[in-house]
Amino acid sequence: MTGKTVLITGGTGGIGRAAAIGLASLGARVGITGRDRRRAVATASEIVSLSGNPAVDIFVADMSSQGDVRRLAREVLATYPRLDVLVNNVGGFWAHRHVTADGLEHTFAVNHLAPFLLTNLLLERLVASAPARIVTVSSAAHSMGKLDFDDLMGERNYSGQRAYNQSKLGNVMFTYELARRLAGTGVTATTLHPGVTSTGFGAEDAVWVMRPLVALLRPFMKSAARGADTAVYLASGVGADGLTGMYFADRRARKSHESTYDMATAARLWQVSADLVGLELDPG
Ligand SMILES: NC(=O)c1ccc[n+]([C@@H]2O[C@H](COP(=O)([O-])OP(=O)(O)OC[C@H]3O[C@@H](n4cnc5c(N)ncnc54)[C@H](OP(=O)(O)O)[C@@H]3O)[C@@H](O)[C@H]2O)c1
Repeated sequence: MTGKTVLITGGTGGIGRAAAIGLASLGARVGITGRDRRRAVATASEIVSLSGNPAVDIFVADMSSQGDVRRLAREVLATYPRLDVLVNNVGGFWAHRHVTADGLEHTFAVNHLAPFLLTNLLLERLVASAPARIVTVSSAAHSMGKLDFDDLMGERNYSGQRAYNQSKLGNVMFTYELARRLAGTGVTATTLHPGVTSTGFGAEDAVWVMRPLVALLRPFMKSAARGADTAVYLASGVGADGLTGMYFADRRARKSHESTYDMATAARLWQVSADLVGLELDPG
């Protein structure tokens, strides 16, 4: 990865931090994003010392805010003349319904709309840097998801699990549609399930009855490094170079849920997402 530049969203903790260590260890220049500057600075210096690679940059952005995502994209474009890999990793589970500054449901905004918007704003730079890769961290939970176009924001009936499943289904369908749109550009789009991994996942707004269960199961979960392994594998192109529009787990291409292959629904999700982030009105 020497000479390659990688941007990883949510590099301040969990799988994103481990992926940043992995890719920096392979020689890439790595940019991480986080909401809190002090945490981002502290994590960046840990990544430098653990990888032995001084080329680690930080970007501060709250991905629940479209204004922040747009500012982040501008800063990345100003900092990186080329961008070889984008890892859309930021994501989480929130037990209760929250509304973002843009008036959108928080889980859908952070897990689906933020990577949708960021990717589109960085797309020209990725295409100009081809061969390039876009890797989006989804979850096996996508298979329990349903895109409820009549109530995408969970206004009628919110459940943290339903919102999470829907957003992760969005990640897979976004990736497949993106791959179709990028055909012939030399930019690939893949998505993955990292496995059940011991991280800070869900801690911000947890279901309190789950806390003791999670604590009990933690020793059986993957370490953050193992959870990041497939993302690093795809981002580095070690074995999956050129593969696009595919879903992976444990480094292997897997079939995602059959609903993800519905191209009409993926195209509809793309259009609805573009409308929600105002992409056509202001492409960047
Ligand atoms: N852990 C699992 O078992 C598991 C299983 C399947 C899929 N996944 C997926 O893996 C990805 C990473 O999850 P994780 O387990 O590593 O979670 P994590 O430990 O909670 O890390 C989440 C990262 O996202 C950042 N983040 C969260 N909300 C943000 C926001 N509004 N704006 C900017 N950054 C934000 C956090 O940064 P801050 O420093 O700002 O908090 C942190 O760096 C997610 O997409 C998740 O859905 C995880």
